[in-house]
Amino acid sequence: MPKKITVNTLQKVKDEGGKFSVLTAYDYSTAKYIDEAGVDVVLIGDSLAMVALGYETTHSVGVDEMAIFTKAVAKGVNHAMVVTDMPFLSYHTDISTAVKNCGEMIRLGANAVKIEGYSDYILDVVKRLVSTGIPVMAHLGFTPQFLNTLGGYKIQGKTEDSAREILRQAKELEKAGAFSVVLEMVPEQSAKLITENLNIPTISCGAGRYCTAQVLVSDDVFGKYCEFTPKFARKYGDMKSLIFDCAKKFDEDVKSGAFPSDNEVF
Ligand code: KIV
Repeated sequence: MPKKITVNTLQKVKDEGGKFSVLTAYDYSTAKYIDEAGVDVVLIGDSLAMVALGYETTHSVGVDEMAIFTKAVAKGVNHAMVVTDMPFLSYHTDISTAVKNCGEMIRLGANAVKIEGYSDYILDVVKRLVSTGIPVMAHLGFTPQFLNTLGGYKIQGKTEDSAREILRQAKELEKAGAFSVVLEMVPEQSAKLITENLNIPTISCGAGRYCTAQVLVSDDVFGKYCEFTPKFARKYGDMKSLIFDCAKKFDEDVKSGAFPSDNEVF
């Protein structure tokens, strides 16, 4: 049985110039297979708002819902690091609420939390979480919880100045104690600059090839959620067709009387 992946394992990967993989999962059995496949970090992304709950944006998912998915995923994972994405408003109002909500995810089996954005307040939240024993994955560039203030799904860090600003924020988050930083929808050359100037690992979500790690939404990888697929996602399977075909054959067999057969009855 391989050893449990920790913040130290991921830092070692960065220090040695290696790469690690991050995939989202939202249920027990999917998390189990992703873990068995050797993926290093399993993220209970707030993307579950769209892909598992059918909401329009991540704003609609709450702490109670993230807690249910965290519990299920954590039960399925033995080896990978389990990270819960903290939902909108769960860490923004005050530091004690942030510690309470993030701590609850650790209590349910997560090994770390992910929080989006940058401000003096967020730096204080990161410091307090880390000093409470809660590892923090930061998230910069396009941050979906800021969709309305960013004015849409826009690439961030396109100019040299804006790339340097993301780097400054990432360095402050690193100083505050974050163990890694997701860079979402950032041009590859900007992500390269940021990665080369940070000590902690960077995790690309549409930020190109130079980051320490790559993260994708598992429903995109499996070809399951097909209402919208970002340009940077790669589809490795066609679960939508698999589910459709299985459901169709079952429906036909029930209606024709082919299911159940002699050996499927008591
Ligand atoms: O919600 C999510 O799934 C994410 C990752 C894709 C980074 O935040």
